[in-house]
Amino acid sequence: MSKKQLRQEDLEVQKLTKDNLHLIVGFVSSVCVELEAFLKENAWNESCLDFSKTYLFLHKGTLAGYATLLTDKQTLANGTEPLLPFQEKAEYSSIPALKIGRLCVADNYNSQLQASQYSGLGKIIFASILDHAQDLKTKVGCRVITTHAKKATGAHIWYKKLGFLYSHNDEKVKESLAKENVDAVPMFYDINRIIK
Ligand SMILES: CC(C)(COP(=O)(O)OP(=O)(O)OC[C@H]1O[C@@H](n2cnc3c(N)ncnc32)[C@H](O)[C@@H]1OP(=O)(O)O)[C@@H](O)C(=O)NCCC(=O)NCCS
Repeated sequence: MSKKQLRQEDLEVQKLTKDNLHLIVGFVSSVCVELEAFLKENAWNESCLDFSKTYLFLHKGTLAGYATLLTDKQTLANGTEPLLPFQEKAEYSSIPALKIGRLCVADNYNSQLQASQYSGLGKIIFASILDHAQDLKTKVGCRVITTHAKKATGAHIWYKKLGFLYSHNDEKVKESLAKENVDAVPMFYDINRIIK
């Protein structure tokens, strides 16, 4: 089935609150049941604790996808090739970051599913996260967006397409991708696009 490419103006973004909590009930992700469960069971609780905030992306009143954000730090381990430009500039052991804790689109919006009707939502969600990061960096220090990309869903390939880099050297990344007991790989995105 050919898919309709979503545009930013097709979507409404709402922060998860007590008043729109009912919207999450119908969210289905068979691609990643763990992320469906997080939204339904933990997102609101984490938000109340100020541990993270969740943003809902609505399409024609339906919850199409969500992202959960929190603060983070990107460690600058000695000799990690992708992060060397930061190590050369600053004598710090880490740099400030915004973390994508969770990000998931509903099945009907998952571009990789044959039966889905739409594509482009993931990219729109990322653009909105980048807006948050740009805003944050003018108010407090924030240089990269970090995430742990799930291997099982191919999320690391998707993040690569967006411009994310692996936070470890090639050898360690290869090892992590090959190991069955590792379910996600750390990645980062330079908000200033100096490292890409
Ligand atoms: C990863 C995810 C958010 C992508 O959302 P999406 O709306 O399907 O992605 P988009 O339509 O914006 O895709 C943008 C591009 O990435 C490609 N892409 C999407 N998912 C991909 C995947 N899993 N592997 C490789 N490429 C992928 C698309 O084909 C598209 O390519 P193009 O620009 O060349 O046409 C979605 O598949 C998802 O929710 N997966 C389950 C949860 C998950 O893994 N979340 C990641 C957080 S760990």
